[in-house]
Amino acid sequence: MTTVETTTGQPATGDAQEALVGQLVAGATGAFELLSVWVGQRLGAYAALDAGPATPQELARRAGVDERYTREWLEHQAAAGIVSVDDPAADPEQRRYRLSPAHREVLLDETSPYYATPLAMALAGVAPVLTQLLQAYRTGAGVQYAEYGEEMRDHNASMNRPMYEHDLASSWIPAVPGLAERLSAAPPAQVLDVACGSGWSSVCLARAYPQVRVDGVDADGPSVERARRHATEAGVADRVTFHVADAAEPGPAGPYDAALIFDALHDLPHPVEALAAVRQRLSTGGVVLVGDLRAPEVFTAPGGDVDRLLYGFSLFHCLPAGRTRTPSAATGAVLRPDTLFDYAQQAGFSEVEVLDIDHDFWRFYRLAG
Ligand SMILES: C[S@@+](CC[C@H](N)C(=O)[O-])C[C@H]1O[C@@H](n2cnc3c(N)ncnc32)[C@H](O)[C@@H]1O
Repeated sequence: MTTVETTTGQPATGDAQEALVGQLVAGATGAFELLSVWVGQRLGAYAALDAGPATPQELARRAGVDERYTREWLEHQAAAGIVSVDDPAADPEQRRYRLSPAHREVLLDETSPYYATPLAMALAGVAPVLTQLLQAYRTGAGVQYAEYGEEMRDHNASMNRPMYEHDLASSWIPAVPGLAERLSAAPPAQVLDVACGSGWSSVCLARAYPQVRVDGVDADGPSVERARRHATEAGVADRVTFHVADAAEPGPAGPYDAALIFDALHDLPHPVEALAAVRQRLSTGGVVLVGDLRAPEVFTAPGGDVDRLLYGFSLFHCLPAGRTRTPSAATGAVLRPDTLFDYAQQAGFSEVEVLDIDHDFWRFYRLAG
């Protein structure tokens, strides 16, 4: 269609309507595809298909689910390009579907940097609180982290884990001057992992640096229980301990050579108080490594893809979960560098810098002094 410009330079009304309808239809298609990934993961259908190509009946048997739903799901997955089908023209019951190794990694491999199934868990994690969210939007209240339930815990744990497995020790720690050396030296370095969630950052750090001792702190009891389980399974529970505590209140005493705050500062209702509490517990020369969402430096509209995704997380989870204390900084997921600098300075840090770490979704900061 030819775009007709009005005298104001805006697209003519019909074009604007078509563009928005197209954007929303694409969004609906994507949202349903994400939910179909959640269905496939939670029912074990991808894992069953990973065992080998299957017809709907074979897959339904393998996964222990209903055949007719399985056929519809497989057709959807093939139509969406998520699984492949040997012969689309075959009789529906006879079609054989398969999962390619590349898509297997994206859908099933929990330690792969390409693992994307946790995005589907985030969508499912929002479902239990939608009514509460509307009420919160009316009143200004928050929605407790625990109300989102296990889906959101799974999302948070599994979304970030591959980065801790692959990048924490190899890329992030070496970008902080002197930190890798301190973590490798005697006496054993003490590290505080603030808002550690399910503990993967603590566990991966302890695995990479066999001397290090880590105290992980999180306000969510069930996340801390998961973290303890992960540390035990990884064989580092003798050096990694987890505590249920608010980041802004005194937790384990330290002093700490380093503190980590990953994907969490924007969630804290009291980020300045939390940073000040961390600073008090740092040893002389101690350093804080913050990794948080890579919001663009300034607001723009229309925004880029990262901005749009971060606002989505903010609307449905980060902002309401961060508003469960009164007062709250109500930061939201769109944490811009200026806001972080302001929080760090208010907390008393005299050195605050953005680190030179290449990452599409996170930005890293060094706080000291
Ligand atoms: C997005 S998750 C990130 C968890 C973890 N750092 C990771 O990367 O997997 C944010 C975490 O902040 C925790 N949190 C929120 N408010 C907190 C507070 N006031 N004190 C301590 N932890 C808090 C939540 O329980 C949740 O585990």
